[in-house]
Amino acid sequence: MSSTVLIASNRGPVSFTLSEDGGLTMRRGGGGLVSGLSEVVRDTDVLWVCAALSDGDRGAVRQAPGGRLDRAFETGPIRMLDIPPAVFHRAYNAVANSTLWFVNHLLYNTPFSPEFGTRFRREWESYRTYNGAFALALAEEAAPRARVMVQDYHLTLTPAMLRVDRPDLRIGHFSHTPWAPPEYFALLPEDVAAEVLTGILGADHAGFLTARWARSFMDCCEVLLGARVDHATRTVTYDGRTTRIGVHPLGVNGDALRARAAEPDVESHMTAIRDHVGDRRLIVRIDRTELSKNIVRGLRAYQEFLAAHPEWHGRVVHLAFAYPSRHDLPEYREYTAAVQRCAKEIEDEYATEDWDPLILNVNDDYPRSLAAYRLADVLLVNPIRDGMNLVAKEGPILSPRCALVLSREAGAAAELGADSLLVNPYDVSGTAAALHEALTLPEQERLRRGLRLREAATALPPQRWFEDQLAALH
Ligand code: G6P
Repeated sequence: MSSTVLIASNRGPVSFTLSEDGGLTMRRGGGGLVSGLSEVVRDTDVLWVCAALSDGDRGAVRQAPGGRLDRAFETGPIRMLDIPPAVFHRAYNAVANSTLWFVNHLLYNTPFSPEFGTRFRREWESYRTYNGAFALALAEEAAPRARVMVQDYHLTLTPAMLRVDRPDLRIGHFSHTPWAPPEYFALLPEDVAAEVLTGILGADHAGFLTARWARSFMDCCEVLLGARVDHATRTVTYDGRTTRIGVHPLGVNGDALRARAAEPDVESHMTAIRDHVGDRRLIVRIDRTELSKNIVRGLRAYQEFLAAHPEWHGRVVHLAFAYPSRHDLPEYREYTAAVQRCAKEIEDEYATEDWDPLILNVNDDYPRSLAAYRLADVLLVNPIRDGMNLVAKEGPILSPRCALVLSREAGAAAELGADSLLVNPYDVSGTAAALHEALTLPEQERLRRGLRLREAATALPPQRWFEDQLAALH
């Protein structure tokens, strides 16, 4: 019972891999949530509670007294929870990533899925157990009246569970994803939908990335729970308690990003890319290989653009970086294969002796991604739906003359829409036309827009984003 500020998230700031001789190697955790928060808590004593995700992590936890991985890292103290693998797998893969992620990103192919039967009930029970393990650890570690910041869809039940044990705590929850409108959220069994909503309402403050997702959450509370919602003051009252709803559009620390992107490893990737593509114009995309990122339609749009504009043949290259993600789920493996098939089609149709129209890369290489940002003429960000999308914010910071083609369904569109070429993510022909418009946008206009994009992208850097939420818990 010692920490006064605590963070809880599924993925932690570090991960471990087990080598063949049984040794452990540590590396930084990945993903938008982790990179934003790691920067914030570096060198502080904010306690970060996270789950062991792999055998390497479990090995590290078992060697650490009480699962506390303190002092060794610049991230500050960490407590990693060794949740039984089968429970973890059902909570993370089946419920969080296959159900809640799919619901909030509107990803279901509804004639076939979802299907909530007995199997789902077992998975749901594991999700409860997993959320309970977090609540227990937080209750053990938090000092009286401490502030606890629970992150994301993996941990929707934790706030209410924690409140039962520790009513003295000030609890926040933050959703890094979109939120589904009530008619789609109601795909969930009624009791499950209610448990998710009341779980989050266990918090004093529930944060979202945009006003749109906050509104959807409040609508769900109103329609599905019968809660009293005040849209003007952004509060939800249910069962005698009031939860304040906050909108915190996470941005980027521009100075830190620019400094990192100026390092020699990035420069040498830039040289390598330039050697490969020459002085051709570059359309860049950088994503996790993630269903919601809409990579296949993005490639189709590029294909249509090439078909409609032979004058660009030989003069443009599409760099598509799609690094691996969630490959325990069959849908993701199939999706990666679909991306590769589509890329091959484009290659077969258009590649010549001395022109590669498309360079698809499916492994993770952060410095290479930074190099691509710096060289981009056009950045394509076309998700089906996305909580924020930090790629749309990082690109303009590193390439001030880059035109942004942006899905209207990305949270970032709220702030960046006016200076982007907005697209309907399902409209492949519309996206193809936007790619052409982006390539032909006059230089002056690119620079003018670039400047404003850059300002918007850095308006709320992670440090202030975090402090605002902490302040909201006072
Ligand atoms: C999204 C979620 C994060 C998650 C990240 C990476 O950004 O909001 O909570 O960490 O994706 O996903 P993963 O399943 O690899 O942690």
